[in-house]
Amino acid sequence: MTDLHCNFAGITAPNPFWLASAPPTNTGYQVANAFRAGWGGAVWKTLGQPIVNVSSRYGAIHYRDRRIMGLNNIELITDRPIDVNLAEMAAVKREFPQHALIASLMVESKAEWHDLIARCEDAGVDGFELNYGCPHGMCERGMGAAVGQNPDVIEKITSWVMEKATKPVIVKLTPNITSITAAGLAAQRGGANAVSLINTINSVTGVNLDTMEPNPIVNGESSHGGYCGPAVKPIALNMVSELVNHPDFHLPISGIGGIETWRDAVEFFLMGASTVQICTAVMHYGFRIITDLCAGFAQYLHTHDFADPTQLVGIAARKLRPWEALDLHYKVIAQINAATCIGCQLCYSACEDGAHQSIRLVEGSRIPQIKEDHCVGCNLCSLVCPVDQCITMRRVDDASRRITWKDHPANPQRSG
Ligand SMILES: Cc1cc2nc3c(=O)[nH]c(=O)nc-3n(C[C@H](O)[C@H](O)[C@H](O)COP(=O)(O)O)c2cc1C
Ligand code: SF4
Ligand code: SF4
Repeated sequence: MTDLHCNFAGITAPNPFWLASAPPTNTGYQVANAFRAGWGGAVWKTLGQPIVNVSSRYGAIHYRDRRIMGLNNIELITDRPIDVNLAEMAAVKREFPQHALIASLMVESKAEWHDLIARCEDAGVDGFELNYGCPHGMCERGMGAAVGQNPDVIEKITSWVMEKATKPVIVKLTPNITSITAAGLAAQRGGANAVSLINTINSVTGVNLDTMEPNPIVNGESSHGGYCGPAVKPIALNMVSELVNHPDFHLPISGIGGIETWRDAVEFFLMGASTVQICTAVMHYGFRIITDLCAGFAQYLHTHDFADPTQLVGIAARKLRPWEALDLHYKVIAQINAATCIGCQLCYSACEDGAHQSIRLVEGSRIPQIKEDHCVGCNLCSLVCPVDQCITMRRVDDASRRITWKDHPANPQRSG
């Protein structure tokens, strides 16, 4: 079996699958159970100034037969006393010395940061994660996303932390911004050892049509919350790749957002992460998913002849280009496999009304035909087709040349 041990910015762990700071890491009981189940690390539910939580506090998007495509929460950081958390952290670390135990922190003044860092180090933590991402409740008090949305403040608070911390420091970034690279570079300037992303995205998951109240309902009212779960993975992957592709950004990245299976984890590695953190999937299915995460990930490495997880990092991210650099000569068109087509004609409706009128219906047959000279190769029909691999895209250019927008005759700013 492939060895999955990892060293992330100096923090070592039996594998790169860590629990994100959230309800599954709220108590020593849970973190110990998770480590017993096989999780490599845990970022403890954020410690900070005393807070009180509301009830109810979660909302979700269910899509067709799929429960919790997206999860929304209006929960704040830990509402348990700091002393209790610290005592449980110390006990877990004593029992699991090889596992990564990270303290997530969020306080306001420099003195509070320094005090909490010292107390966590006394408890034996392996590193810190600075929560600059909480999108509700804490930012109104000048913390969380209020910090993560301002690069100068990110840099300043990170530098305060670096004055005191003797263990590696990870800065957790918010996606509720225009430029993730500005935030990541600010963390780097502040002296951080790594970044993690994404925290949750501002959201309201829905409205109850009978009571006309937004979800989740707190005595007839609600508040915007943070969105996570499978629905946010595309946003997280893009942000991870933007950072990893920035020429001036050099920190390791812990990828977070919508990871549920080993395939999701591999995607994050290929886009530039070198550990991953998971919350919603554990809230949905429990700690047991770690068995499949580790086995599937190790099998993938073995099948593709990679010696260890670090060899995956960023391979796919390096294949991202600005749109202007893509090959305009490359051309694919759709083809329908008549043997597997079930004649639903969804592809016809999609192309006729929503794309390029490149599919025809033939009298006497339910099986549509592609108008090959019209098809622009947009993919839509293959995306709506309910039968796997029934519509595939076939390359039709002769691969003899490559032309990008920069050099295209239609480009008024073309060079030369
Ligand atoms: C109910 C809930 C509470 C959370 N609390 C925290 C927190 O205290 N600190 C933190 O940094 N992130 C918190 N998060 C965000 C998660 O750590 C993670 O960044 C986010 O859920 C995306 O990962 P996922 O799609 O795997 O859930 C919370 C998420 C949820 C759902
Ligand atoms: S969507 Fe797929 S299955 Fe349905 S008619 Fe088109 S090719 Fe056939
Ligand atoms: S690829 Fe696009 S244009 Fe071509 S047939 Fe399918 S939907 Fe129509």
